[in-house]
Amino acid sequence: MKLLVTGGAGFIGSNFIRMYMGDHPDCEITNLDKLTYAGNLENLRDVENDPRYHFVHGDICDREVVDGVMPGIDAVVNFAAETHVDRSIGDPEGFLRTDIFGVHVLLEAGREHGLDRFVQISTDEVYGPALSEPFPEDAALNPRNPYSASKAGGEYLARSYFITYGFPVIVTRGANNVGPNQYPEKVVPLFTTNALEGEPLPLYGKGDQERDYTHVLDHCSGVATALERGEPGEIYNIGAGNHMKNIDMARLILKEVGKSDDLIVHVRDREGHDFRYAIDSSKLEALGWKPAYDAEAAILDAVRWYVANPDWWKPLKSGDFRKFYEKQYRARLEEADQSS
Ligand code: NAD
Ligand code: DAU
Repeated sequence: MKLLVTGGAGFIGSNFIRMYMGDHPDCEITNLDKLTYAGNLENLRDVENDPRYHFVHGDICDREVVDGVMPGIDAVVNFAAETHVDRSIGDPEGFLRTDIFGVHVLLEAGREHGLDRFVQISTDEVYGPALSEPFPEDAALNPRNPYSASKAGGEYLARSYFITYGFPVIVTRGANNVGPNQYPEKVVPLFTTNALEGEPLPLYGKGDQERDYTHVLDHCSGVATALERGEPGEIYNIGAGNHMKNIDMARLILKEVGKSDDLIVHVRDREGHDFRYAIDSSKLEALGWKPAYDAEAAILDAVRWYVANPDWWKPLKSGDFRKFYEKQYRARLEEADQSS
């Protein structure tokens, strides 16, 4: 199988490429990535010299670039996206561009090149908050922030290509991933690296929101299952059912790195913060997928990776990250300071 993986220099894409190449000696993978602030070729050092792997620096919104990488490709797995909810609240435009228009460019090129499969990586956030039962794939969508609305737009478009043109699209909706190589803006690497540096952990609101903390390798094996055994036109949820409150996640991290709970600072909540996500993954389980990590094991595996790999994350916490951090947290931390 010749795969085009887009966004393969990011967190999940790089874990997927490594896993897929390990499991499929005969595969060939082209990784098309724009290398935004979240793309990092360090994530793929161990495969970069493998003759089965090719890297192309480019934007999925650029039709010429996309046409250039399509010849000979059997399937696309589209991970490329703007992915951080807080950034989407501050500046949504880039999300609409990559997460909707970029999908359109890939679909058009893929249709012309007669692909066998197109996997659109989506998110459980498109369902909106789940306050009781986990959502099955046919539940109504209720995206509530610019990131999730853009992701919903991208997957609606992808599914329309199946219905209108018979283009073999599969959509996956993954839960909150944790594990190695996640950019330190996301909560688990942010809290772990802040704790290691003795910095506060800015917990939004009371911290009683819940996420389904699914190990990235479980998400990747779910994507591979959908790619290989899924039906075109179908949607597959990928969540391990690992619900944990954010406050408990923060305490778990602090305990693991031997720091006091006093580092937790309750700050002003995220605007439109979805309280809880929950998805029913039995459709994918029926294809043979099974997660290997529970919530604690998934989070601790991530934390231990950051403890062992300061050379990976320390350089990332300067420059662009510092500017984002100041904008996102400075006022929040000062307000919290004044009210205590
Ligand atoms: P990430 O932010 O770590 O990486 C995104 C990658 O896409 C980066 O390498 C970036 O350079 C690349 N990229 C961005 N815009 C691009 C463009 N226009 N053209 C080419 N490349 C571009 O993201 P992630 O956390 O690895 O998420 C990957 C995918 O999985 C996304 O589609 C995301 O919506 C989805 N997802 C993420 C999670 C999660 O918890 N992180 C959960 C469910 C679904
Ligand atoms: O559920 C899937 C989604 O998971 C993916 O589609 C997104 O790309 C991914 O970023 C993630 O979104 P979340 O918004 O759930 O992830 P984040 O790490 O930003 O936040 C997780 C929880 O932690 C959420 O309830 C908000 C809270 N949080 C987050 C940050 C960054 C804090 O309390 N403080 C913080 O500083």
